[in-house]
Amino acid sequence: MNFNMFLYVILFLFSSVQCYSEEDLGYSLNIGNAIDVFANYGDLSQVTQVISADYESEYGSDPIVPFSEKNIKVFKNVTSTEIKGDADGITNIELLICETFEDLLDSYFKHFKIEGTDKPWKAFMGDWIHDEIMRTFGIEYDPQPDCCFVLIKLTKVHKTVKLGNLEGVAVKDYVMRAIEELNMTDTAEVRRFMKSYGTHYIDSYVTGNVIYQVFKYKRRGFDMLRSYIAMRNAGRANNANLRFYFSSYFLKQVGDIRVASGNKTIETWARMNLRDVQYLYSRPSLLRLNYNSVLVNKLNNLMDQGALIGLNLKTLRPLFKDRRKADSYAEVVENDLQLWEVNA
Ligand SMILES: *[C@@H]1O[C@H](CO)[C@@H](O)[C@H](O)[C@H]1NC(C)=O
Ligand SMILES: *[C@@H]1O[C@H](CO)[C@@H](O)[C@H](O)[C@H]1NC(C)=O
Ligand SMILES: *[C@@H]1O[C@H](CO)[C@@H](O)[C@H](O)[C@H]1NC(C)=O
Repeated sequence: MNFNMFLYVILFLFSSVQCYSEEDLGYSLNIGNAIDVFANYGDLSQVTQVISADYESEYGSDPIVPFSEKNIKVFKNVTSTEIKGDADGITNIELLICETFEDLLDSYFKHFKIEGTDKPWKAFMGDWIHDEIMRTFGIEYDPQPDCCFVLIKLTKVHKTVKLGNLEGVAVKDYVMRAIEELNMTDTAEVRRFMKSYGTHYIDSYVTGNVIYQVFKYKRRGFDMLRSYIAMRNAGRANNANLRFYFSSYFLKQVGDIRVASGNKTIETWARMNLRDVQYLYSRPSLLRLNYNSVLVNKLNNLMDQGALIGLNLKTLRPLFKDRRKADSYAEVVENDLQLWEVNA
């Protein structure tokens, strides 16, 4: 192919997707806007701040933003509600029991939903190598992580934004035209539509921050912890004993404390100030925050709000007036998601 022809092809492709005006295009969190989940499938964590990865050297001291994926405005006049986070900041300690490493990933991403898949973590980091994933969780690489994990986390919500009722909401003209022209039996054309106008819209999101730590257990210790928690939940055991089940005797590995926004200042503070001393050993532990309001206050003041801690994406079904077209669009999106998921 000669150069002129190449240029021609590029220009052609460029103009064929530029059907919306610049002001409808965004890269921050815009409630109701649409994104193409396949554009960065398997690597959405690269364009959303959901977990602590070591990008710092790349971005220097730029402020951390929760979301920077390309999105476009598809509805004309959506309404939304915004709820500010708890004035007290950090909510209580959550302790999540995970039988396998995949359970751990499911637990970490439990406030993320993508219609059409029940493995949203795969969209966020399915393409990452295991070693890299484990590093974001603060634990060492293990090629066969069998048993078992406990994820401890504390959450500080900045705000929750939810889309209002979509009934009567108008669709942008250019999207309406594209939908009218869309030939649903031509799958190549449907996929082109996905690339131009997206697969899902943002139905709700939560920003704030999460501080978390992973503990890797020996089987026996894990089983004991689990029965202790069952007893505690039934009111038959005392909360104060919790620390006992986090002793070295039961553990294979104590992970580093991490912060979802990736803020190294906070992680360093946590590493130095949140330590548990047992016999001669001292190691990082979020359990230090249990019943220690001085430390919780300090942490509260440090926590930035740069992380995306919840997201709900729904398929573009409501854009379609024609019910059959809507169903078949959602079906193609969901089928594709299943295929990508298997390959991630
Ligand atoms: C949105 O705009 C449409 C048409 O312009 C109008 O009929 C509808 O009432 C509006 N809906 C809201 C929620 O403002
Ligand atoms: C829609 O696409 C199918 C499959 O490519 C094709 O056979 C059909 O002629 C198209 N219909 C229209 C109206 O363009
Ligand atoms: C990280 O957190 C510290 C302490 O709250 C804050 O001063 C700093 O601005 C944060 N860094 C970024 C890049 O947001």
